[in-house]
Amino acid sequence: MPIIAPSLLSADFLNLQKDCAMLNESQADWFHLDVMDGRFVPNISFGLPVIEHIRKATTKICDVHLMIEEPGLYAEAFKKAGADVLTVHIEACTHLHRNLQQIKSLGMRAGIAVNPHTPVHLLSDILQEADLVCLMSVNPGFGGQQFIPHTIDKIKTLKKMIQDKNLATLIEIDGGVTLDNAPAILKAGADVLVAGNTVFKSADPIATIAALKAL
Ligand code: DX5
Ligand code: ZN
Repeated sequence: MPIIAPSLLSADFLNLQKDCAMLNESQADWFHLDVMDGRFVPNISFGLPVIEHIRKATTKICDVHLMIEEPGLYAEAFKKAGADVLTVHIEACTHLHRNLQQIKSLGMRAGIAVNPHTPVHLLSDILQEADLVCLMSVNPGFGGQQFIPHTIDKIKTLKKMIQDKNLATLIEIDGGVTLDNAPAILKAGADVLVAGNTVFKSADPIATIAALKAL
């Protein structure tokens, strides 16, 4: 069964408590929290104080996706705010190995996010340090974009790399995931499905989450 990680970027920010309660009641496994700095990506979302409050509203895993430059400056603050998984972008980290060590030494699971244009082969000497790889299936910065089909090939390649090295690294797919394309995404080897619009813009988010979980 896939891990389902609804992205609160598509939640109702005036009623976050209500959306957190809905996710708590649902089969969602993780809360996916998208942090944007207006530098690494051309958008600004939310940050530490919001995550601190979301942390108090759930016991589920808080999966924090940092779309920010110099993430190492803030790893400790995100741990304090309540992150369980902290994911940094390979494109934002000159010293990625050090960033992952730092995240793990703080007691969080460490993830590497990969933009659509970045080859998964760049992970060959760092994969063993990552608990998770987040393959971006859209250009990061906005919810509600179209899934980039080439991601399917990247999932297959990455899955083989993980299996060849006998690792337990999870593959997370982020961007444009729908009930229609999720079966192919899972068949290619994904473990975690992030879904923003598909969950929050659906008529019955709890049923949509259940449908994703049942795939
Ligand atoms: C995009 C974010 C995603 C986004 C996904 O920059 O990293 O997590 O919220 O939203 P959907 O599922 O609507 O594409
Ligand atoms: Zn994300």
